[in-house]
Amino acid sequence: MLNIALPKGRLGDQVYELLASVGYDCKSIYDDNRKLVFENEAAGVRYLLVKPIDVAIYVEHHAADVGIVGKDILLESRPDVYELLDLGLGRCRMCVAAREDYAGDPDRPVRVATKFPNIAKAHYAKMSRDIDIIKLNGSIELAPILGLSDVIVDIVESGSTIRENHLKILEEFLAISARFIANKSSYEFKNEEINAMLGRLEDAALKEGPHKTAAL
Ligand code: PRP
Repeated sequence: MLNIALPKGRLGDQVYELLASVGYDCKSIYDDNRKLVFENEAAGVRYLLVKPIDVAIYVEHHAADVGIVGKDILLESRPDVYELLDLGLGRCRMCVAAREDYAGDPDRPVRVATKFPNIAKAHYAKMSRDIDIIKLNGSIELAPILGLSDVIVDIVESGSTIRENHLKILEEFLAISARFIANKSSYEFKNEEINAMLGRLEDAALKEGPHKTAAL
């Protein structure tokens, strides 16, 4: 049995559809209830529904064998897991954005609001630019509007949130998509099952242009 950490929400729905289409369906997942564990013994899968930000924690700590997680979260938290495949789903960009009238002041640190402090620090360190981080957990776009920060570092998917809050993108610096990850010891001890799933996902996702990626 493979334990799969599946992110709740739109990305998880897309990934579940992909897994179901290659033989790992679990019909009861559509039941209207508050259950968090669903299994299909015949297909050898048990789905664990978790918050997207927690997927890599479940996998790293061996509560799940494999999982699906955004590259943004992998880059931010650097979990000790194998990153096996770019699924080509959930594509978005990591961006710096600011109010439309933002000019910038090179003489003082940039105040950066973000859910991704490590990614933001690494980005500005490359430019040797001093920053002050304001760590938020959501609604990041509010920060520059209210003067809490100069800029935000956040993911942009459709661009609607940026547009509708009258912000402008200053830089796009990382391409993000969903990755198939595995716990290191599961990959050793359940190698056949994980590789079978990986192979089917690769075949199914090939049209989207995924590629095997190096271990983190
Ligand atoms: C994310 C992100 C942006 C928005 C971008 O937020 O932080 O706010 O989506 O998407 P868009 O370009 O398609 O508008 P999320 O929906 O996760 O909500 P949050 O504010 O609670 O973090």
